[in-house]
Amino acid sequence: MDFSVKVAVITGGASGMGGAAVKQFSAAGGHAIIVDRNADLAEQVAAETGAMAMIGDVSDSLFCNQVIESAVNKHGKVDILLNAAGIIVRSNGVGTTDEQWHRVMNINVSGTFFMCRAAIQQMLKQGHGSIVNFGSIWGDLGAAGVAAYCASKGAVHNLTRALALDHAQDNIRINAVCPGEVNTPMIQSERNEPVTPELMARLASTVPMGRLADPAEIAKVALFIASDEASYMTGSLVNVDAGFTAR
Ligand SMILES: NC(=O)c1ccc[n+]([C@@H]2O[C@H](COP(=O)([O-])OP(=O)(O)OC[C@H]3O[C@@H](n4cnc5c(N)ncnc54)[C@H](O)[C@@H]3O)[C@@H](O)[C@H]2O)c1
Repeated sequence: MDFSVKVAVITGGASGMGGAAVKQFSAAGGHAIIVDRNADLAEQVAAETGAMAMIGDVSDSLFCNQVIESAVNKHGKVDILLNAAGIIVRSNGVGTTDEQWHRVMNINVSGTFFMCRAAIQQMLKQGHGSIVNFGSIWGDLGAAGVAAYCASKGAVHNLTRALALDHAQDNIRINAVCPGEVNTPMIQSERNEPVTPELMARLASTVPMGRLADPAEIAKVALFIASDEASYMTGSLVNVDAGFTAR
């Protein structure tokens, strides 16, 4: 893919699939802006790729507005927004505390919405734009032990559809990529057992193709959907899950 002269804001760009997208987008000639609360990792990816890093929390709407303002000040436009920042809490419904519930909703749902809203305001001014949100297989399917996460990804899916329809006539496309099991640091996040080869094998055995994804395999699809090559796609939720949801 050729992203020369394109500008992309990539949240969660310091790690996992967001990090892979920053690397691929930069290698294809684009100007990436990493948005992440992990300053050390974000600066590291920025140094590797030549991207700009903005450190902060996407659940803060003022910060999200500043991100878009800074991107426009530096590059004059925002062609693409990839919303990959997200967290997981591994708890069933009754075990989920108020704090956990609000934390997941604030980051996964409000963070995605605040970034979309800020970017769309700019995209309306410039007359074009493309957004890819990170949903999940757990946004359409239920799963035990991750109640707040499932609820948050379901909200991201339907937010994506609603915003796509809001802007279907504005030359702004809004889609979501819905990954299956991906080998990123999130796999070990908040887990009450260590990530052993046995655990990884157990996760892989739940996937029809028998393995977890490399983050780069998901980033490629997200960038394709974000690119001008996907000009007839809006409001789509694209599963990239090695057959998980085909059953
Ligand atoms: N790993 C999986 O199996 C999987 C599967 C389906 C969907 N997803 C989703 O894909 C997206 C990327 O996940 P990943 O696995 O690459 O995770 P990851 O943990 O590797 O990366 C997430 C990044 O988001 C950043 N982040 C978290 N909260 C933030 C906040 N409030 N403000 C700014 N940055 C914040 C983190 O610092 C981190 O760099 C997430 O939305 C996740 O829910 C992951």
